[in-house]
Amino acid sequence: MKTITIAIDGFSSTGKSTLAKQLAQHLGYVYVDTGAMYRAITFFAMQNGYISNDFFDKETLINALPSIKLHFEFSVELGFAEMFLNNTNVEKEIRTLEVSNFVSKVAEVSEVRSKLVEQQKEMGKNKAIVMDGRDIGTVVFPDAELKIFMTASAETRAQRRFDELEAKGDEVTYEEVLENVQKRDYIDTHREDSPLVMANDAIEIDNSYLNKEEQFKVVLELVEEVLL
Ligand code: DC
Repeated sequence: MKTITIAIDGFSSTGKSTLAKQLAQHLGYVYVDTGAMYRAITFFAMQNGYISNDFFDKETLINALPSIKLHFEFSVELGFAEMFLNNTNVEKEIRTLEVSNFVSKVAEVSEVRSKLVEQQKEMGKNKAIVMDGRDIGTVVFPDAELKIFMTASAETRAQRRFDELEAKGDEVTYEEVLENVQKRDYIDTHREDSPLVMANDAIEIDNSYLNKEEQFKVVLELVEEVLL
């Protein structure tokens, strides 16, 4: 049976990972959340004091990159692969608003990007993969058979992310989350190396008014067309 590569890119909190997980489960493909990899490097930088509100020691982080080992381990219980940083499960630690506030800065560093892109290409060399991020259809898998680009208004996305954080018991306000979403949009689309842009051959899906099931149905039809 034909197997393909599915690249899902788009703005933060557009539900890329929800869609990617649904697709991977349905097709029996591997799912890779590349945002988790950028978040894990950011968490490493925070733990080591390389980054804080008014400080970022980029050079020291770059020098430390060879000592950072990232891998995913599939959790049957959760139904997706969890992120490990130097053999420690950091899945919870990388999802805080604090990491979200620093991650775009770390993701701007070209040396960080090339290390992660190399690992991502390796993970996808046998296809049968759904990968989500910002540069998957443009840089990681420019030849992917199906590229989806997801958008939704900043307010809709902030509300979704706020609901998730609140459900986890994080003490954040909607305004803080909205500010973070808008800041990340700006940095992600304006960075010099691999800015977030839609690939020419990507299909745009605005899910402001689509629920998860409706969105999945739309995309599954696209997958089936490619698999025909
Ligand atoms: O998808 P996410 O919100 O977990 O991603 C976290 C950050 O990582 C996001 O603000 C931009 C960066 N990122 C990136 O630059 N390239 C990717 N392929 C994935 C994420």
